Amino acid sequence: MKTCNIVEKRLDFPMLDQKMHAAPLVYLDNGATTFKPKCVIDAIVEFYSSSYGTVHRAIYDLAEHSNAKYYAARIAIKDFIKASSEKEIIFTSGTTDSINKLAQSFGEAYIKEGDEILVSEIEHHSNLVPWQMLAKKLGAKLKFIPVNDRGELDLLELEKLLCENTKLISIAHISNVTGICHPVKEIVRCIRKQSSAKVLIDGAQAISHMPIDVCDLDVDFYVFSGHKMYGPTGIGILYGKEELLAKMPPTFGGGDMIKEVSLKEASYNDLPYKFEAGTPNISAVIGLKAAIDYILDLSFENIQAHEKELCAYALDKLKEIKDVQIIGESTQSRSLISFTVKNIHSLDIATLLNFKGIALRSGHLCAQPALKRFGVSAMLRISFALYNSFDEVDRFIECLKKIISKLG
Ligand SMILES: Cc1ncc(COP(=O)(O)O)c(C=O)c1O
Repeated sequence: MKTCNIVEKRLDFPMLDQKMHAAPLVYLDNGATTFKPKCVIDAIVEFYSSSYGTVHRAIYDLAEHSNAKYYAARIAIKDFIKASSEKEIIFTSGTTDSINKLAQSFGEAYIKEGDEILVSEIEHHSNLVPWQMLAKKLGAKLKFIPVNDRGELDLLELEKLLCENTKLISIAHISNVTGICHPVKEIVRCIRKQSSAKVLIDGAQAISHMPIDVCDLDVDFYVFSGHKMYGPTGIGILYGKEELLAKMPPTFGGGDMIKEVSLKEASYNDLPYKFEAGTPNISAVIGLKAAIDYILDLSFENIQAHEKELCAYALDKLKEIKDVQIIGESTQSRSLISFTVKNIHSLDIATLLNFKGIALRSGHLCAQPALKRFGVSAMLRISFALYNSFDEVDRFIECLKKIISKLG
């Protein structure tokens, strides 16, 4: 393992070098979005300032240069998640867009009235509402995999829910509420034994924290966002097995996604272009490639080792505070911790922490049913990235304790 001092890497992130409310910024909302290293910012600036051109439409040098970079990014992403072919990598605008596109296209190709879709009861709204909309439109049924009090999926219940009408199971790899990493490989193995249903994994919270091998996991679809893995906003990935994507209809019509067009009809392009209508977000694709190079250079071994230690440290410190209640604690927790404080509203705590320069998530975490499941109306969440330090955790804990002693 190539060792490095992760905290030195803080210097790569210009956003970390600033104050909020006259205090040094402590950014603990990385589950929402991460800061960008300078190499990502530079790659985008370089593209716009000295090599800007469109893709897939022209033969002049600038366009060819963009084509080459765009293609290289797709290959890098394919290798990053160990997909079999670049045809399986579809550029979208983010996880939400990927799931909505899937719901539309997979829904049209594979789901009919009376069929069933399974999601867990604690999914992010992005992995729930599109399925609600699809189920309503098609007359399909949405069913829910329960979780226990630790936030772990009830796999026995999942087995019971599977039936011949089940067409899709869609769950988060790491929950944005509990931080628990679900045992995807084991879940998929269990599903394959008794069902031909397809499996979608929402990798939004996993992609920056652990290596992903979509073939080893044997998932049918895997989706994630660039902005949660040190890349730009406005770019995401929809991975799908080639044989499935090939049978699915495009969701948008326009340039790039066609082969031939007459006034009355059109034939569609090959994968992955069939799903990429219009001029894409080229700069974000280039920025995402730079983010992947950055992660790989640092290595997941280093990132995981650091984040695991940091998270365990924060968890121990939080548990020492009398009125703090951790949500969904499990031995599998990593990279984020959600909690509430007895008799104090989460929004009050988040507001006061903000005045001390500490940014963390509060409210319903885009997962209202999950909050209901855990019997709370709002939560606080700290989520880590490779650049967070133990000093930052200490500052957060110290400020939190002071707030609790004043308001409690
Ligand atoms: C588990 C999970 N799924 C989906 C999303 C949606 O991601 P995006 O807003 O980038 O589309 C998020 C964002 O927080 C998430 O945590």
